[in-house]
Amino acid sequence: MSQVDTQAQTAVSLPRIGDDAPQFEVNTTQGPVSLSDYKGKWLLLFSHPADFTPVCTTELIGFQNIYPRLKEKNTELLGLSVDSVQSHIAWVRNIEEKSGVRIEYPIIADSSRQVATQYGMIHPNESQTETNRAVFVIDDQQKIRAIIYYPLTTGRNLDEIERLVTALQTTTNEQVPTPADWTPGDQVVVPPPKTQQEAEERLKDESIDITDWYLSKKNL
Ligand code: BEZ
Repeated sequence: MSQVDTQAQTAVSLPRIGDDAPQFEVNTTQGPVSLSDYKGKWLLLFSHPADFTPVCTTELIGFQNIYPRLKEKNTELLGLSVDSVQSHIAWVRNIEEKSGVRIEYPIIADSSRQVATQYGMIHPNESQTETNRAVFVIDDQQKIRAIIYYPLTTGRNLDEIERLVTALQTTTNEQVPTPADWTPGDQVVVPPPKTQQEAEERLKDESIDITDWYLSKKNL
């Protein structure tokens, strides 16, 4: 298959922000799991390329480190690779033995690649067999709210993933966008005016921080 053919195939199958998250029923290190089990919670569904590999090991530990804070935000973690459940069990046992970190979230054994295919986690021009470093942020209504893809070579930034969840939940709860590098406590963006009259009124609003009619911020 040519590179163009594989590009066309993957383009068709990728879910997008705003879509309903594709449903699945899978086997994990903690038994059978369905996407519908997570209704009412936010979910980070993330893939890694392969068990017993160095970058993936640092990421698994990183996800565990942010897990207690994610749970406080009504957010669960669910890992995935195409390795078997026995391999996952051996790996998480090894991680605990060598690093003292117990992986408390389930990891999907997607040997059939059902979920990897549904979510477009295999990018064949990078690897025909391994899932890349994908993160799907799925909200409590089971809609896809954000998608991150990192290549095999590059470990993800767990602080950024936690920040992304916090920013998305703030946007949902407060109906405001968040600016670059936003963290909790920072000002949020006031949605820009939609009419010329609103733009003129915005410039007179003394309750918010105005840079210009289209860029204003406020405290929450
Ligand atoms: C790693 O996790 O170290 C890794 C996995 C697959 C390809 C490259 C690196």
